[in-house]
Amino acid sequence: MCGIVGYVGSKKATPILIDGLLSLEYRGYDSAGIATIENDVIKVMKDKGRVNNLNNLEGINDLVGTIGIAHTRWATHGKPSKENSHPHMDNSGKFAVVHNGIIENYSDLREFLTSKGYTFISQTDTEVIPNLIHYYYTNGPVSVIEDTKEKFLGAVKSAIYDLKGSYAIEVISTILPDEIIVVRKDSPLVIGKGNGENYIASDIPAILKYTKEFYLLDDNEFAVIEKDSIRFFDNSLQEHNRAIKNIDWDANAAGKDGFEDYMLKEIFEQPTAIRETIGSRFRLGEKCSFDDIEISKEYLQSINKIFIVACGTAMHAGLVGKALIENLCKIPTEVDIASEFRYRNPLIDEHTLCIYISQSGETADTIAALKLAKAHGAKTLAISNVIGSSITREADYSIYTHAGPEIAVASTKAYTSQVVLISILAIYFAEVLGSSSETVLEELKSDLIDLPSKVEKILDDTEVIKAFAKKVYAEKDMFFLGRGTDYNVALEGSLKLKEISYIHSEAYAAGELKHGPIALIENGVTVIGIITNPNLLEKSISNLQEVITRGAKTLIITNQILPNGHFDYVINIPETNPLISPILSVIPMQLLAYYISKQKGLDVDKPRNLAKSVTVE
Ligand code: F6R
Repeated sequence: MCGIVGYVGSKKATPILIDGLLSLEYRGYDSAGIATIENDVIKVMKDKGRVNNLNNLEGINDLVGTIGIAHTRWATHGKPSKENSHPHMDNSGKFAVVHNGIIENYSDLREFLTSKGYTFISQTDTEVIPNLIHYYYTNGPVSVIEDTKEKFLGAVKSAIYDLKGSYAIEVISTILPDEIIVVRKDSPLVIGKGNGENYIASDIPAILKYTKEFYLLDDNEFAVIEKDSIRFFDNSLQEHNRAIKNIDWDANAAGKDGFEDYMLKEIFEQPTAIRETIGSRFRLGEKCSFDDIEISKEYLQSINKIFIVACGTAMHAGLVGKALIENLCKIPTEVDIASEFRYRNPLIDEHTLCIYISQSGETADTIAALKLAKAHGAKTLAISNVIGSSITREADYSIYTHAGPEIAVASTKAYTSQVVLISILAIYFAEVLGSSSETVLEELKSDLIDLPSKVEKILDDTEVIKAFAKKVYAEKDMFFLGRGTDYNVALEGSLKLKEISYIHSEAYAAGELKHGPIALIENGVTVIGIITNPNLLEKSISNLQEVITRGAKTLIITNQILPNGHFDYVINIPETNPLISPILSVIPMQLLAYYISKQKGLDVDKPRNLAKSVTVE
């Protein structure tokens, strides 16, 4: 949601900025723009629409500035338009700003600035920022500072001090045309260190091809970036050092690698992502261990409740986590949607452990929900795919999925890796607590180890799914039914379908169907059933029989032996422990959503209205 790029060095900035914006396209946006400085004049080029449209703007190729900031906007305040696109400048033309996040008190600030004679061109919250910087540069205590560098940074700091909300901000100025000032709070921003050049971006993959050395800014921390230096300041502008982080991701991992779309590539990367996530966390016959955390038996024994909090797909992974933790560790576990949890006064105290799952680690609601639990004295544990992401910096404990960069908006390999990681966590807790038999835990470990080859087997034959996608792509409604973890994964299958094929769908616990939704079942409606638990086989078949009787067309994803001739289509998947079967049963559903979307000619990787990283409430 909104993307930021910056460059300062000796090369022409524009191509680097546009390239960076293209890498951030997956985050979701509706407008794009850049600003560079040439001969002490800020040049801004921006418009609504795709990043590639920037290349068609008159004069863009003539920009020779070697410093610049760039932005993709996902509209919040003001519709997508050229005026509302970033960068925004102050009235004097001395300062240009790009901003990711939301300034909650922007109307008050706008009113204040208007009373001081400032005028506004856009409807955005962002436009107050360059004008506030100008205001402080020319008024008040900062304005009398003689050193220009100190004065510029002081003016930015004073302006930031007035902002309420979330932000990652880049500022350039004609006053100091060789530096970019950045600051962040609750919105992502990373700085990449080059040789005689430096880079800024909303996330690491966007600039991974230029550098593997990164600085991760803390909330309310400022950085002043020139081509040969990066200096860090706290929120009282005291300078300090910051450690560099080496990121060992493969730059090619962020490319499409011959696949037509990122989503398809990421679906096929799942065997590797699962292997990497298991990594060396356990071997058969040995206890699980996490390098990153050590949790004592005394602490776990003091816990009387676990909350798993997340959004969207990550929340669906959490539902499987609940089943695992309750079964193996016997600790009551609740799963909640972060945007609900944070406002519902949940009952949290020091005997509660709160687990937060977030691929990006930047989801605004999840971060806020984590801060809430901390404030109530609970310990917090983050599960994320992004090293150093905001959520991992806030949490008491952090563990990582090793899925590699996930670019497609619809999450696939992050989900399966999250379920794998939470399975290992549950086994680890159970081993520490002694709450499950060794045999049960060893069998589950063995099932986890076998998963990658089982996923490969499913991916080897996609023909039935493609054929089914061709049959049903024009439908308006579909239903997903399952029981237990099959219901949990049905929710994820339904979400994938909605997101990228724009077909309305509902997921129901199969036994709940009779309590209302069965009224929607009529001749020809497609129902997808998931059956992977032998203990629930007969009950699930009966529920599906009820929809067949009412004319539904059925596709069943199963690892059980089903009665012959009962269902229209059957996709057989390998057997595994029902607690982790979603890792296998989700794959045909991911592929189904993908092939339907392709059949409809839609943009699979960038579905309408969606953003990869939801950094606003
Ligand atoms: C769906 C999807 C979203 C995310 C959700 C949370 O395919 O990707 O539902 O799962 O926005 O995002 P993270 O995991 O980054 O917190």
